[in-house]
Amino acid sequence: MKNEFHRDTWIEVDLDAIQYNISQLSNQLNRDTLIMAVVKANAYGHGYLEVAEAALEGGAEWLAVAFLDEALFLRKHGFTAPILVLGATRPEDAGLAAANHIRLTVFSIDWIRSARAFLDTHILNIHLKTDTGMGRLGFTDPEEVAEAERLASDSSNLEVEGVYTHFATADELDRTYADQQHERFLKVLDVFQQKPPMIHASNSAGAFLRDNSAFNAVRFGISMYGLVPSGDIRSEMPAPLKPALSLYTKMVQVKKLPKGEKVSYGATYTAQQDEWIATLPIGYADGWIRQMQGFEVLAGEYRAEIVGRVCMDQCMIRLPFEMKEGTVVTLVGETSEDCILLDDIAAHNGTIHYESACLLTARVPRVYRQNGGISKVFNHLN
Ligand SMILES: Cc1ncc(COP(=O)(O)O)c(C=O)c1O
Repeated sequence: MKNEFHRDTWIEVDLDAIQYNISQLSNQLNRDTLIMAVVKANAYGHGYLEVAEAALEGGAEWLAVAFLDEALFLRKHGFTAPILVLGATRPEDAGLAAANHIRLTVFSIDWIRSARAFLDTHILNIHLKTDTGMGRLGFTDPEEVAEAERLASDSSNLEVEGVYTHFATADELDRTYADQQHERFLKVLDVFQQKPPMIHASNSAGAFLRDNSAFNAVRFGISMYGLVPSGDIRSEMPAPLKPALSLYTKMVQVKKLPKGEKVSYGATYTAQQDEWIATLPIGYADGWIRQMQGFEVLAGEYRAEIVGRVCMDQCMIRLPFEMKEGTVVTLVGETSEDCILLDDIAAHNGTIHYESACLLTARVPRVYRQNGGISKVFNHLN
C-alpha cells in the first residue's frame, strides 16, 4: 500500500523547521532580495518534492538544482516556480530546458553558439556564471561575459536573465578572500551594456554574513535545512536555525553477549565483560557508513557506542544495561536530554555535514512533519 513502510528505521523531516529557517534568513535580507531554495541532491537528502513545496510556501520564490534532470523532475511533479540549474547542461538540451521554462547556467561562448541550433521558438533564460575565485564553473574573463551578452542579444530566443558567482570561503571567519571575489564580481557587472535583472552571489554563509545589497537574490542551501554552514562561523550567525532532519531506528534484537564473544564481520570487537548488545536495522546501504563504528548514538536517553563493523543493513550497539527490543534509538536528532547533530556525524567521519546528509539513501523512508502532525510518509520502494 502506498506510503507505508515496514522497517524500523526512518528519517523525519520537519517542514516547519525549513520554513522557520527561511523566515530567519528573510528577516536579514533587504525586502527586494529573493530566496532561491537550493533543493539539489534530493534536497540535501531531505526529499525534493516535500522540501520544494515547503520552501515555496515558506517564502522562497525560486528553486535551484544541480542538473537538468532534477529540474525536469520538479516540473513533472507540478512545480511551476522558476528553477535554475546551477551545473552544466549539454547544449543539445537547451531546447528542452527552454520548453520547460527552466533557467540554465552558462559559462562559455562556445556553449551559446552550439545551443542556438537546438532552440526553437521558446526563449531560454540564462544566468551567466562568472568564476571569481572558485576555480570551478564560470567565465574567468570579463570580456567573454560581455561577448556572451552580445551573442545573446543577437539571438531572438536567448535572454540573459541573470549573472552570478559563487564564494569559495564565505563560511570562514577570515573574509579577505571572499571580499576579493566580491570585488571581482562587481567589476564583471560593469561590463554589461544592460545589467541582467538578477544578480546573485551568496550561498547560506554569504546570505547570513555578507552585505548582499549589490545583489537581488541569494541561493539558500545548507542553512535552509537548519545547519550552520561551518563550525568557524557558528558564533557569527545572526539568527538561530532549526535542524530539519532526524534519523531514528529501533532495537530489533537485544541480547547478552558473554565476556570474550565477538561482534560483526571480521570479529574485530570482543566483549570485555558480559555485555548487552542491540542490533539496529540500519547499515551502510542506508548511508550509515562503515566509519560510523565507534560513534555514540542515543539508546532511549542513554549514549551507546556502535561496536564491531557496520554491515550493509545492520549495525550493533553496546547498551549500558538491558533494554527492551523495540526501544527507539536516535541516530540524528534530539531526545529530551541529549542531541546528535549531523555535524557530530560529520566530525566523526572527518567530513562535512553536507556530505553526511546527502549520503542518506533513498532506501530510508521519510516521514514529513508539519503543523504538529505527520503530513506525509514517503517510501521510495512503494
Ligand atoms: C552554485 C551554488 N550555489 C549555492 C549553493 C548552496 O550553498 P549552501 O548549501 O552552502 O547554502 C551551492 C551548494 O553547493 C552551489 O553549488
